[in-house]
Amino acid sequence: MTLNFNHNIFDLNNYLKEKRAVINEKITFYIQKYTSSGRLSDAMRYAVMAGGKRLRPILCIAAGETVLGVSDDHLVAAGCAVEFIHTYSLIHDDLPAMDDDSLRRGNPTCHVAFDEATAILAGDALLTLAFEVLSVEMPRCADTVADCLKIIGMISKAAGARGMVEGQMRDMSSEGRLLSLAALESLHGLKTGALITASDETGALLAGADERQQTHLKEYARLLGTAFQVTDDILNVEGDPVVMGKAVGTDAAKKKNTYPALMGLSASREKARHLIDDALRTLDIFDTKADPLRAIAAYVIERDK
Ligand code: IPE
Ligand code: IPE
Ligand code: MG
Ligand code: MG
Repeated sequence: MTLNFNHNIFDLNNYLKEKRAVINEKITFYIQKYTSSGRLSDAMRYAVMAGGKRLRPILCIAAGETVLGVSDDHLVAAGCAVEFIHTYSLIHDDLPAMDDDSLRRGNPTCHVAFDEATAILAGDALLTLAFEVLSVEMPRCADTVADCLKIIGMISKAAGARGMVEGQMRDMSSEGRLLSLAALESLHGLKTGALITASDETGALLAGADERQQTHLKEYARLLGTAFQVTDDILNVEGDPVVMGKAVGTDAAKKKNTYPALMGLSASREKARHLIDDALRTLDIFDTKADPLRAIAAYVIERDK
């Protein structure tokens, strides 16, 4: 996808390709460095290297670049840590006790390829690996220990009982029970939005963003995260499972609360478009260094996987 912002041509495909290569190389290195070889390590590598979009680490890097103009090692380290948390959440989300899915990132889910106990443990190990990477690798390059602790606190909150895990709890416990739109928005904000926002905020903090820049980048991520989940819900209705690498139609089958279920497909598409228009407006205070974030905003609702 090539986009024209500020009379500047920005090649998003190339940007995503370059960043994914850097992230994948670092993820491989961390798994090698921080795990003992064996079945657990194999299951972790299997899940994390299966080819996700790497949206969260790319957002962390792109938010940092919006402030700094360049990427650096600490943005990549923090981004990889968030990707470990995200991958753990997918492994557990796919388990029989949760969404019971057998396809993820184009491959059999971790519990199908290995077994349920191994998948649970691989998820546990990826979650803890994230915090090891944050506490060992990030201080090598972040300016102060205080910055590192602030980021670790922020990511912990976004991943845990006041963030993603609470969102997953609400998602599971509201199956088959109709939620209001406000309750669905709050659920999605926790389930998906919290970690996406934390990725972007981490990049901003590591890059030394001032308060105004932090506020705008946080609001951008909040809007982007919601648009991302609305699109995920739409793709679960009309996406191609081969392209997406995961099953479709599963939300309706499980009577999940989703945007298409509550407001219909066309209103959902319109909602996603409005959210992205608002997200783009929050970037108006930035120059062309924010073009990657602008392009990512368009990509989030135009993606087919
Ligand atoms: C899927 O996330 C689950 C949601 C939070 C909606 P992604 O769509 O980012 O999944 P990968 O990382 O590309 O596999
Ligand atoms: C995935 O959520 C896990 C988290 C967001 C924590 P979903 O169940 O909505 O996403 P898919 O469709 O399985 O990727
Ligand atoms: Mg789920
Ligand atoms: Mg699921």
